[in-house]
Amino acid sequence: MALAQRKPHAEPAVVLGAAPGKVILFGEHAVVYGQPALGVALGRGVRVSVRKGSGKVEAKLAEGVRSPELAASATPEKLVKAALGARAEELDVEIEIEVPPLAGLGTSAALAIAVLRAKDALDDVTEPAEVMLDRAMEVENLAHGASSGLDPAICLYGGVVEFQRRETKGKNKLQVRRVTPALSFHLVIGVHGTHGGTKDRIRGVAMVREQMPQAFDASIKALGQISRAGSKALIKGDLEVAGRALDLAHGVLSGLGLVGDAIEHHVRNARRAGALGAKMSGAGGSGGAFFALAPDFQAAQRVKEAIEAAGAMSWVETAAE
Ligand code: PMV
Repeated sequence: MALAQRKPHAEPAVVLGAAPGKVILFGEHAVVYGQPALGVALGRGVRVSVRKGSGKVEAKLAEGVRSPELAASATPEKLVKAALGARAEELDVEIEIEVPPLAGLGTSAALAIAVLRAKDALDDVTEPAEVMLDRAMEVENLAHGASSGLDPAICLYGGVVEFQRRETKGKNKLQVRRVTPALSFHLVIGVHGTHGGTKDRIRGVAMVREQMPQAFDASIKALGQISRAGSKALIKGDLEVAGRALDLAHGVLSGLGLVGDAIEHHVRNARRAGALGAKMSGAGGSGGAFFALAPDFQAAQRVKEAIEAAGAMSWVETAAE
């Protein structure tokens, strides 16, 4: 009896991969020290197309996205090579980036996941989310140094995501959960310049720990408590409390040296324009991403206009119930 033969799998000429960017609502930096975080996947992100070739990587920004840093940054190529591994030299990759890079909106995590998804499509395999998350973290560590896993978790799971990393007996345990808010809420995203590198910001925060260990621990715990209270409020639809929690978290992160003058100006401007709360988001630094929580869609439009009038790129994202 002839054995059934597995048909050799014919590789498609081009495969596409995509993943959304993200905004961290609560818990950046504190998450590195085991505190809980909450993030939302964006309606825009990174798209890649992968075809047979010779290892070329081309990255371009989508229309309307500004970033002075992209041309100088070697990161997209490094991330792509790490994601493709042994196949990197036989494939060409075109990347379209729909959110400003190096701002804290998750472009490196989204790029890692988009390429891994394309590679899996090429190899005709489907992996469980936990395996994909591990691989994305390995790739993303090139940009982050020691990624907590927060960015890839949000970009991979999508929607509103709760995240916590706990270390037990030297091993990382990640808790990732997608949650559904009781009511839709509107976030106004703003970007002013870049944060200049997550690795350096994480290092800067670790220096504060060396200088003042007890005060540092108290600040990180406070960020964790704010994250718990703010996330709970947001998910059950208490936007007033969630907004206050955002302002509180922003203040602590500012004290840790993560908010530049321009971002401080934009955050205050957004509050004056009617936001319930506003904060920096992501690694922070002299520039980068910030966002505001609006009481409703009309108010979100007004806050967006105020942010644009002050010179930053801005758009509205809605997290659906
Ligand atoms: O790289 P960013 O700006 O998206 O920031 C990531 C959040 C950090 O907590 C600063 C780092 C991490 O890996 O959790």
